[in-house]
Amino acid sequence: MTSINVNGKVHDLGDVPDDTPLLWVLRDQLGLTGTKYGCGIAECGICTVHLDGVAVQSCITQLSEVGDSKVTTIEGLSEDGSHPVQKAWKQHGVPQCGYCQVGQMMMAAAMLESNHDPSDDDIDGEMWNICRCGTYPRIRAAIKTAAKEMQTR
Ligand code: FES
Ligand code: FES
Repeated sequence: MTSINVNGKVHDLGDVPDDTPLLWVLRDQLGLTGTKYGCGIAECGICTVHLDGVAVQSCITQLSEVGDSKVTTIEGLSEDGSHPVQKAWKQHGVPQCGYCQVGQMMMAAAMLESNHDPSDDDIDGEMWNICRCGTYPRIRAAIKTAAKEMQTR
């Protein structure tokens, strides 16, 4: 039996095939539908989750690659929307249609764990997620606000 640790809880997955993309395990097996599907080929960033704190694209991460690693989805970033990134996103009113935003926040949260004071160039370099609504200026502003709060933790 395959099991997976998601948001601090271990789930038995029964006979789910090893080559199933993590995205579909999260959405279809575990009902964690915060993580979205976009391109399916690691080109858009919409499906980004954390694997042991590192941002990965769940559409191309097979269940067999997860192993004992800890998966974090937007549902586990905080229980009540209180992660600095989530708060900053609300403060800046970042989303437009919203479809890309979970991936954006997961990518930003992972970046801020290793870079506590990202420059515009850092943000532009690491935040390669696509937003068809063009919310990039607000994303940049929200990341800087979140970074300030994370520096004081
Ligand atoms: S759906 Fe995974 S990167 Fe686009
Ligand atoms: S908010 Fe619409 S695609 Fe990003």
